[in-house]
Amino acid sequence: MPKAVNLAVLLSGSGRSLQNLLDRIAAGRLDAQVRLVVSSRGDAYGLERARAAGIPTALVESRRFRNFLKMSDAVTLEIERQPVDLIVLAGFMCFYRIPDPFLGRTMNIHPALIPAFSGKGFYGHFVHEAVLRAGCKVTGCTVHFVDNEYDHGPIILQRTAPVLDDDTPDTLAARVFEQECEAYPEAIQLFAEDRLRIEGSRVRVLPKRTP
Ligand code: GAR
Repeated sequence: MPKAVNLAVLLSGSGRSLQNLLDRIAAGRLDAQVRLVVSSRGDAYGLERARAAGIPTALVESRRFRNFLKMSDAVTLEIERQPVDLIVLAGFMCFYRIPDPFLGRTMNIHPALIPAFSGKGFYGHFVHEAVLRAGCKVTGCTVHFVDNEYDHGPIILQRTAPVLDDDTPDTLAARVFEQECEAYPEAIQLFAEDRLRIEGSRVRVLPKRTP
């Protein structure tokens, strides 16, 4: 059995992705433990979810920082207080500059097929509105290692969802989120099993080892 990966989860909002990971862990389907939740907003419901699960929380409010580098340092200080193997961005709506020791150990999920509909300004419902405006027939989600660009870095996996004629941004977001709920735990489990290798801008997924 792979060793449980220690996670720090960074969020800004409702924490649905955090909850999905907690549920997977509780069901014994993800070899991980959430050691810390960091929020950029005091009113994020994700903080409540973390407290309810008995997970240590830290509040690093974006509104208190003039620049993202100082904010990133404050987030990193919190992370360094815990035994963290992997940083997981789960609806974290701020730029986070990855400290060198965590390059290759920081993941993000984005509700589109990167590099489409990604980068600054593309988050939450803005992504789905743009997908509908463009007339796409398919969209999806992407889990990637984070480099120091917004929604950028080697892609670990992608899952697709159809765009239906009568979709609204909300119905499409819900369909994509179902895929996110599979994609994020799957990527983290691959990390736990030490099956991800970054080769330049690409990620190779190694086959499962037979015991
Ligand atoms: C998720 O849909 C995630 O893909 C998106 O935020 C949602 C989670 O936030 N992330 C981005 O758009 C990052 N560019 P929530 O837990 O507050 O609902």
